[in-house]
Amino acid sequence: MEIKINFSGRSVRYTEEEIAVVVDAMRNADPLTQGNLRDEFESKFADYQNVPRGTCFTTVNGCAALEMSAQLCRFKEGDELVIPAHTFTASAYPYLKKGARPVWTDVDPRTRVVTAEIVEKALTPRAKAVVVVHLYGYVADMPEITALCRERDIILIEDAAQAIGSEVDGRKAGSFGDMGIFSFHSHKNLTTLGEGGMLYVKDPAQASVIPALRHNGHCGYAFRTDYWKPAMSNVDIPMLDDAPLIPNNYCLGEVECALGTKMLERIDLINDEKRARALYFMDALADFPELEFHRVESRRHNYHLLAARMNTGPKIRDHFMRAMADDKGVKCVVQYIPLNRYDFYRRLGFGKANCPNGDAFFDSMVSFPFQHWLNDADLEYMIDATRDVLRSLR
Ligand SMILES: Cc1ncc(COP(=O)(O)O)c(C=O)c1O
Repeated sequence: MEIKINFSGRSVRYTEEEIAVVVDAMRNADPLTQGNLRDEFESKFADYQNVPRGTCFTTVNGCAALEMSAQLCRFKEGDELVIPAHTFTASAYPYLKKGARPVWTDVDPRTRVVTAEIVEKALTPRAKAVVVVHLYGYVADMPEITALCRERDIILIEDAAQAIGSEVDGRKAGSFGDMGIFSFHSHKNLTTLGEGGMLYVKDPAQASVIPALRHNGHCGYAFRTDYWKPAMSNVDIPMLDDAPLIPNNYCLGEVECALGTKMLERIDLINDEKRARALYFMDALADFPELEFHRVESRRHNYHLLAARMNTGPKIRDHFMRAMADDKGVKCVVQYIPLNRYDFYRRLGFGKANCPNGDAFFDSMVSFPFQHWLNDADLEYMIDATRDVLRSLR
């Protein structure tokens, strides 16, 4: 059967106003990178996050933000990074690149993210940093995890790639840790034309190096006699300690930044609409306990993704996936293979983990197509299709 509801590669459709902002930046922005539109996006994003201006930095994508956060960790041989195995690969490999050894943690079976207790159990004297991933759009127990990391003097990084706008105790995901990263990739609830990211750095001394670290080490001269002497710009990165930082070019263009600023006006609405629909979908399937959803009515979940565990096991899950695709034309997917199970991490010697909850969830999970632009008829069709298929599998 042809696909009726695809697991789309894009999350949102842009409004005419958003398109007009892009066109205006295409026509008028000068320069097309590293200009006022970047500054405006970073300031408005900081306001949105309720963190001081000057702490948020646009990047070409979330991965680039993760990589710079990894550089700021200053890993030395043997340093450990505590991170859930059940996440997207880009949560982890930027830290491996900078010398960290991953210590894989499990996730809570209900929320599918880490808890303070899980993190604490994984901490050894070699633990240098913790990455908390707010996977699917749900914020982990950040007040407790933040207190734990502070007490142990461990760097805390939030991978809020999927959790823009989600909050706990009135504070936004990505604003609790020493650093927070965001993604504006095509799939995300806020996307800047397919690629984009943001890095939040709490410490002002560390934040001060990001502009140069992000842009080839470029910085101004302290003194010059003429604007062209000795060159257009200096290359230098302030030393944070005795190991020099090597720069990158991870800048986001002005057109994307203009769109990012504009989309901040709509992100709460997008998240609220996705949450309302997720709740509607779950409630409509309340008579089918074989599908276990994570039901959250508050802004703690932005329902970037709509995932469920099939408690009848992996075999029935596979029958469900096949029937949904072949008989109903609904393309569900399975996401987030625990990282220790990938060949890449095994080859590096990081194939061992004790993560029964993450393993069990991955082996029997279903992720429904849940792009913001699904229409009501599509949603109803998907509900009916899910009911039919589940009934046929009973
Ligand atoms: C949890 C998580 N971390 C990191 C990333 C990396 O972001 P990007 O694709 O913008 O590099 C993504 C998304 O793609 C993600 O879902």
